Amino acid sequence: MTSFTRHRRLRRTAAMRDMVRETQLSVHDVIQPLFVKEGLKSKQEVASMPGVFQFSLTDLLQEVASSVDLGIKAFIIFGIPAHKDAIGSQASAEDGIVQQAIRLIKQNYPDVLIIADTCLCEFTSHGHCGVLDGEHVLNDASLERLVEVAVSQARAGADIIAPSNAMDGYVYAIRQGLDKAGFEDIAIMAYAIKFASSFYGPFRDAGESAPAFGDRKTYQMDPANRLEALREAQSDEAEGADFLMVKPALAFLDILRDVRQQSNLPLVAYNVSGEYAMIKAAAQNGWIDEEKVMVETLLGMKRAGADIIITYFAKDLALYLSKKGV
Ligand code: PBG
Repeated sequence: MTSFTRHRRLRRTAAMRDMVRETQLSVHDVIQPLFVKEGLKSKQEVASMPGVFQFSLTDLLQEVASSVDLGIKAFIIFGIPAHKDAIGSQASAEDGIVQQAIRLIKQNYPDVLIIADTCLCEFTSHGHCGVLDGEHVLNDASLERLVEVAVSQARAGADIIAPSNAMDGYVYAIRQGLDKAGFEDIAIMAYAIKFASSFYGPFRDAGESAPAFGDRKTYQMDPANRLEALREAQSDEAEGADFLMVKPALAFLDILRDVRQQSNLPLVAYNVSGEYAMIKAAAQNGWIDEEKVMVETLLGMKRAGADIIITYFAKDLALYLSKKGV
């Protein structure tokens, strides 16, 4: 027996390291978020998310074209309507901005996967994810609205409904609603574990969806809770979710790993806006190497157990992978 193990044998050359690498990033596993804003003349960069834009319908199609050229095949759509009201009417309108965007992309790119974020916060005047009684966010009344939104998105051509409003019973309600409307084959990507996180800050600039009062702590989860997170994943799976998501990802890699061990459903990590903004900001200061830190971050999510990553770095990653020829 040798006195110690020479781990460095497997690190000696680049070819050796490539051969023993355990985790791979692939353009097939990423979902690119897209923001489309009604009435916008030309695309607007989001100040807190360099490289991320609010698009008009025309600009949106150009963005999809350039992403498809890079090999990206899946997009999650967020919409900002021209008019907001108490119940977020525009979220389920047939000519709502999200519905228009889905139809337009599908007409031009029938083979891409369109995931519709199904929530009310971008569409309500108060910025909460459900309907209110005073300042209380009602659960069951919000579910009724959520089903209407999901069905209208499926009708517009969405392949996957991704409910992010964090009400109890949302997967069950949406599954029933989709089935009743004839959309049995449309999948549900449940934002199963969604923490009430300050990492969403930049998103609320992009989605113009900050709550007008209070916070989301009565419906989104306490970041301190692990067992509750596992119960959330269990109930969404039992209600019929086709995918489970953990959000945010970076500060919750343990939760990703735990859900991976508990469930055999495809697991999604949402590399959220604040995680993106931190890397971009540090890189702009010259403090870190953006590309390397991006790769390390996304690898960490896959290593923890994610099969799929929703990330604002989708195009940057696709570019990196094409340069490397992998
Ligand atoms: C809508 C929604 C949010 C995000 C995705 N869908 C914001 C929120 O819950 O306030 C955040 C995504 C990100 O930060 O990148 N409910």
